[in-house]
Amino acid sequence: MHGCGDRHGDVTVDLKMAIEIRNLDVAGVVGTLRFLYITLAIRGVLKHTLLASRALTGDPMPTSYVHGYDPRENLRLQDQASTLVDLLHSDTTYPPASTVLEAGCGVGAQTVPLASNSPGALITSIDISETSVAQATSAVRAAGLTNVTLRQADIFHLPFPPASFDHVFVCFVLEHVAHPVEALAALKRMLKPGGTITVIEGDHGSAFFHPDSEFARQAIRCQVQLQAKAGGNALIGRALYPLLCQAGFVDVRVSPRMVYVDSSKPGLVDGFTRKTFTAMIEGVRKSSLKSGLISERDFDKGIADLYRTAEADGVFCYTFFKARAVNAADAGQP
Ligand SMILES: C[S@@+](CC[C@H](N)C(=O)[O-])C[C@H]1O[C@@H](n2cnc3c(N)ncnc32)[C@H](O)[C@@H]1O
Repeated sequence: MHGCGDRHGDVTVDLKMAIEIRNLDVAGVVGTLRFLYITLAIRGVLKHTLLASRALTGDPMPTSYVHGYDPRENLRLQDQASTLVDLLHSDTTYPPASTVLEAGCGVGAQTVPLASNSPGALITSIDISETSVAQATSAVRAAGLTNVTLRQADIFHLPFPPASFDHVFVCFVLEHVAHPVEALAALKRMLKPGGTITVIEGDHGSAFFHPDSEFARQAIRCQVQLQAKAGGNALIGRALYPLLCQAGFVDVRVSPRMVYVDSSKPGLVDGFTRKTFTAMIEGVRKSSLKSGLISERDFDKGIADLYRTAEADGVFCYTFFKARAVNAADAGQP
């Protein structure tokens, strides 16, 4: 199994384009859309902590970190970070003393808001990538969180007894997994009867924009095809309901969460439309051409048209899907 913290099949993207987190060592990490979230969440959550601690200690800001020292830039970044954190996390809080398994925590982009929103819950975050777990550990420490335990583990071979957790949280992971129903079933075994699972995924088919462009749509389709070739599914958001049902969950509820960007939201125009979504599609240029999915001219026109949607009269929309489901109360031990 590949992990986006290490390698993502053919879909290798230079994250320096999309992330620009200068104070975290993420060079070499590859990514797709969820890295917007990493960018924004870590910028937003960690920078608050860093800024606050530096203000208290009088520690001068390192000059190499270009984002966030100008108050206006700070506000912009905090706005976009909180927009997406709110969009995806605001309705997920776990009661004090409840046990939560976060599966596929990556570098901790979700771990930080998850643990911050449920300070009394006991969160265990795992990822198959040792490197990502180390980065997540740093992120959790930097955020001053004490309710998270991190460890390396594989969703398909979890080192916990069945029914160990009250809740499971999984975000931007199933799209990389060749057998998502099996992954969900493995996570279900970790849940106590009556426990819940929360799943968040994107869906690249949900991207639409003004001005519309068939070239842009073709370029996006290249990313979808390459991810499928690598065993994943960049269109998985729309399938969360049937996947959770097939895995045996009950009371499945899916809620679409649209990110809408126009030039009245300059932070999102820059952070989402340009530096995340378009940069992500641009990142598959080489693989797309090599695979013969598209001509060079058409791909480049598609990218230019995506950047065009970030201009003053442009609009960009993308939908995340968030599902919550229950492990039936009478679920027996597997
Ligand atoms: C796109 S990242 C998402 C990380 C994080 N959830 C987030 O939203 O920022 C997907 C993560 O799933 C992890 N992953 C993939 N397959 C896994 C498996 N079988 N067991 C555990 N983690 C896995 C990868 O290593 C990677 O860190």
